[in-house]
Amino acid sequence: AGVEQLVSTGALPEAARVDELVASAHERNRWVADGVVADYIPALAAADPEAFGVCVADVGGSVHAAGDVDVEFSIQSISKAFVYALVCEVVGHREALARVGVNNTGLSFNSVVAIELNDGHPMNPMVNAGAIATTGLVPGDDDADRWAFVADGLAAFAGRELRVDEEVYASEAATNERNQAIARLLASYGRLDADPGRTVDLYTRQCSVLVTTRDLAVMAATLADGGVNPVTGRRVVSAGVARDTLAVLASTGLYERSGEWLYEIGLPGKSGVSGGLVTVAPGKGGIATWSPPLDDAGNSVRGQRATAYLSRALGLNVF
Ligand code: DON
Repeated sequence: AGVEQLVSTGALPEAARVDELVASAHERNRWVADGVVADYIPALAAADPEAFGVCVADVGGSVHAAGDVDVEFSIQSISKAFVYALVCEVVGHREALARVGVNNTGLSFNSVVAIELNDGHPMNPMVNAGAIATTGLVPGDDDADRWAFVADGLAAFAGRELRVDEEVYASEAATNERNQAIARLLASYGRLDADPGRTVDLYTRQCSVLVTTRDLAVMAATLADGGVNPVTGRRVVSAGVARDTLAVLASTGLYERSGEWLYEIGLPGKSGVSGGLVTVAPGKGGIATWSPPLDDAGNSVRGQRATAYLSRALGLNVF
């Protein structure tokens, strides 16, 4: 991305320098015209293809922002990373490994074939099968309890109350036959104990939670900070769970492009079909971008470029 790769050392540069680089990551990529806005969830097709926000939150709680960082959009697949962390906190390292897995499928995020090829195993929590299996492990006596667990947990990561985009939720709920099929397939293999329909509904609702780019940067910084939200000072998950989540993101956060991502950016990340992208520099901070046009794997085009620039310019690559 036209910038020298610094070697990862110590903390982030001084605040004014980070501000400058965030502004530059936005400026150099805002006219990139590649990618296509997702439309398989009808309500997402209305997104503005020019919208673009870039934000860095560091583990000291400072936030550096450029562009449309305060516009809300549905979190979509990025919820998978944070719900996984919340569920791991409850079920523990071994159970999460056994029930959900940590290996890349090498196939698209909504693949049914991956399940079939792996004896019905969901494979990892960042593809739809594994995310639905993870949501199936959310504790609670009834739907309201389980929703409260997810909503409160996501709010703790963001440091503020979050609401659901009811239009996006209804639009996806009316068209998510494939996710319903995935849940039933998992159940047929004995890999989903919870009710498949209710689990997909909870998963669809978690994907419809509205966040801003700024929220996502703080959520990413919470994982960077060993599970403590650096803005509120509140512990959301344990350090071990934050580490496990980052390991999963490194191997699977950008679906079948996760290898290329790690090769170019060298950090754990997670993308979503509404155009959000979060990246975590352990011990340093979180990067979040939002730009709806996606590549053919479902990852934001401008987001990947802006993040590659910041990873290099800030010397964040962990390798
Ligand atoms: O389940 C789905 O298809 C959506 N709720 C989320 C998919 C998603 O964000 C994939 N990301 N690139």
